Amino acid sequence: MTRRTPFLAANWKLHLGPAESARLASDIRVRTADLRDVTIAIFPTALSITAVVDALRGSSIGVGPQEIEAAPIGAWTGANSATLCRAAGCEFALVGHSERRQHYGETSQRCNQRLFAAFAAGLVPIYCVGETLGERRAGRVEQVVGDQLSAGLDRLESDQIASLTLAYEPVWAIGTGETATPEQAQQVHAFIRSWLAARIGPTLAGQVRIQYGGSVKPSNAAEILSQPDVDGALVGGASLDAANFAAIAMQAISP
Ligand code: 13P
Repeated sequence: MTRRTPFLAANWKLHLGPAESARLASDIRVRTADLRDVTIAIFPTALSITAVVDALRGSSIGVGPQEIEAAPIGAWTGANSATLCRAAGCEFALVGHSERRQHYGETSQRCNQRLFAAFAAGLVPIYCVGETLGERRAGRVEQVVGDQLSAGLDRLESDQIASLTLAYEPVWAIGTGETATPEQAQQVHAFIRSWLAARIGPTLAGQVRIQYGGSVKPSNAAEILSQPDVDGALVGGASLDAANFAAIAMQAISP
């Protein structure tokens, strides 16, 4: 079986201006400096990206925007592009977070354009998928996640799909304190990997990192991260505290 390096990401959402972001990033840098064999990335607000890039210069922690526009530059008031984020020192980009889908009408079709834009600019995307509580109760998890994958990854080359990261974030577990059980997470992650195997073959599918997101904290991280198809976490609230985030990262290495 392919060994996948765990990937821990901090999504700071709409928190922290430049000075506070730089302080927290520096603190995370210090607390995770001794960790090997883990990928770490921080997604601050767009306003704080350059401050965080500066604070992390020379470290192995990557930075990225929480969403990108598909167009590289132009008359897109209020947008960030992959091209300009790359110029600002980013290496990663979140695409299709459920809060974007919910509050900004983001669709998987538009995410598909954003994924192409990320690759064109040299950013590694994390494409987010996940069902709502109603969809889960209706037994539609695989249909919903499968549709998000089909539309979002449409026409991408196999090697592009192999190189991106997926984040499974059940909407009902985000910011609610509710976490998917390790079994629930593993079940959907295994479904995602089998979907990938059908699309790009089992070998490449075995390389794709799939993060879990939704109320991950130090007290529940080990259980979730020890699941065979869970390759890291996309952490919201708990990532606003350096000690908590570092404690989660530690458990990603030796779950
Ligand atoms: P919480 O960890 O606050 O539930 O947020 C999860 C999330 O949305 C990460 O992208």
